[in-house]
Amino acid sequence: MQIDRRAFLATLGTAAAIKAMHSEALAEALEHHMIENLDAETTKDELKVRLGTGLLFGGPLPSGKAPAVLTKLEPMPEKPTLVDFFKYRFAPATAKHVLQSATDAMKKGEREELILACLLHDVVLNLIKVDHGWWGAQMMEPYVSEKISWGIRYHQALRFYPDPSVGYEYPEMYNQIFGKDYVPPPYIKQAYEYARNHKSYMDARMITVHDLYAFDPAMKVSIDPFIDIIGRHFKQPKEGLGYDNSPVAHMWRTLIFPDTPL
Ligand SMILES: [Fe+2]
Ligand SMILES: [Fe+2]
Repeated sequence: MQIDRRAFLATLGTAAAIKAMHSEALAEALEHHMIENLDAETTKDELKVRLGTGLLFGGPLPSGKAPAVLTKLEPMPEKPTLVDFFKYRFAPATAKHVLQSATDAMKKGEREELILACLLHDVVLNLIKVDHGWWGAQMMEPYVSEKISWGIRYHQALRFYPDPSVGYEYPEMYNQIFGKDYVPPPYIKQAYEYARNHKSYMDARMITVHDLYAFDPAMKVSIDPFIDIIGRHFKQPKEGLGYDNSPVAHMWRTLIFPDTPL
């Protein structure tokens, strides 16, 4: 690594200040300088964090914006409920988004199951972002009806394809995230075509419809109006999410203990 001597000395202050410095302090300052400049040298091909990394692990928002600064998390209750995850683990950005989406569905008089699907459709982004429809469906499967998990699985692919019959347009935000000429990969197209011809199509499509109205930073939302719907349609395990030995208990535990090294 090349050191620009002049630039380095300029960071230390006046000539008198530099003269007064211990050689150890100088060495330390040089190390800092080198580390900082190493950051500046990282090229576009190097990532600080994988783009698909979940928000709870420091991954950026889908828009590319960094999430809130990571801080120590509060411990969770011994038998965590879905509502506890909203309270203690889901990043404000995702919680707000799914609450807005479910609020929109509720206001428009949708079925309770669809309202719950909207409430759950993106919370897996806290764990992982890539293929979040599939991950999200799997994470919810033991606790919700098939209609709900099916809808969550296919909403990801359907987001890329307009459906004027229900007023769903290609999201402007996707032009910013993926670029204007983006063509979804073949597996997404296949999933769309499969879902389009499936009897449950609308269970996934309507999630995308309410998704569109769920990015208003000024809108105030709360989990309270959804507590009864969760009670009626989400099979909360008595041992707590993460401890019920279900095939996906580890996903919930990963959110409970995201700082565990292994
Ligand atoms: Fe989504
Ligand atoms: Fe969404």
